[in-house]
Amino acid sequence: MKAIVFDRFGGPEVLREVDIEVPQPGPGQVRVRVKAAGLNALDGKIRSGMMEALRPTTTPAVPGGELAGTVDALGEGVTGMQVGDGVLGWSDTGSYAEYALATNVALKPAALEWQHAAALPVASETAERVLGMLGVAAGETVLMHGASGAVGTLAVQLAVARGARVIATAGPSNQDYLAALGATATVYGTGLVERVRALAPDGIDAVFDLAGKGALEDSITLRGGTERIVTIADFRAQQLGVTFSRGSAAPSVERLAALAQDAAMGTLVTTVTAYPLEQAAAAQQVSDAGHVRGKLVLTVD
Ligand SMILES: NC(=O)c1ccc[n+]([C@@H]2O[C@H](COP(=O)([O-])OP(=O)(O)OC[C@H]3O[C@@H](n4cnc5c(N)ncnc54)[C@H](OP(=O)(O)O)[C@@H]3O)[C@@H](O)[C@H]2O)c1
Repeated sequence: MKAIVFDRFGGPEVLREVDIEVPQPGPGQVRVRVKAAGLNALDGKIRSGMMEALRPTTTPAVPGGELAGTVDALGEGVTGMQVGDGVLGWSDTGSYAEYALATNVALKPAALEWQHAAALPVASETAERVLGMLGVAAGETVLMHGASGAVGTLAVQLAVARGARVIATAGPSNQDYLAALGATATVYGTGLVERVRALAPDGIDAVFDLAGKGALEDSITLRGGTERIVTIADFRAQQLGVTFSRGSAAPSVERLAALAQDAAMGTLVTTVTAYPLEQAAAAQQVSDAGHVRGKLVLTVD
């Protein structure tokens, strides 16, 4: 099968297309004929070698942690799925490939397009996990740093659905985008504390840092302490006394199925830019630059 691999750490140029064996599903796994692979900022961090201390990689490695596609083979003990079913979920083997193995997948609503399905697993699990940790409730005001990307696009909508007011940061070109998602938008960078205070004179109840670009000190100032601040991207968290949240080893397939229904009905909006699998390096270069609106996906066919 066709797959993208890297066998040394470096920039996007280390990615190359190869022909490798189709993987065989083990107990509890399905094999998925991949239609779309979600691209995450983490993929570039793993490829660069930056994650080695926390999460060592065996090379050659196929990148990609999520997918949408059709079930192609069933491993022992799999129930509730049949060959030919459309699914979305987390890949056990890399998803930048024609076929991948997966344990945690949900059935894909027919009305949800492959590319939009592939945008959901990681971003929706992350957004829901952190909103839950923060205990964001109706009537509260939550500040989100860097909310125009993949996770932020969903986090803004899910927080608004909880009845919260969201003040969200992004660059100048994404202010209207955040407003359309339901947030009060402002730009990141110098003067943030004053801008947020002007928008929320009664204070901020919780902070979700999605960017990891140095906004924790401002967050602590705005909250008057480190309580109810969670970052998913700033590795200085521990040093500053702030909670860092990592991906879940056992994501909820039931929640993914419910959110996929919302996305199919249009009540949860995903924004997708697609590249063909062969252009994985170009797509990772865009991701590495750190200014993606919504989600990048790779289409496979
Ligand atoms: N720990 C976890 O469980 C977990 C899970 C998923 C993702 N992550 C991490 O969380 C981060 C966000 O993920 P993502 O997929 O949403 O990334 P993404 O799609 O690449 O989005 C990055 C966003 O950051 C914004 N940004 C860029 N520079 C900024 C700055 N100086 N201050 C504030 N915002 C800035 C960009 O906005 P503009 O384009 O408007 O500049 C862009 O919308 C990544 O670092 C990713 O690796 C962690």
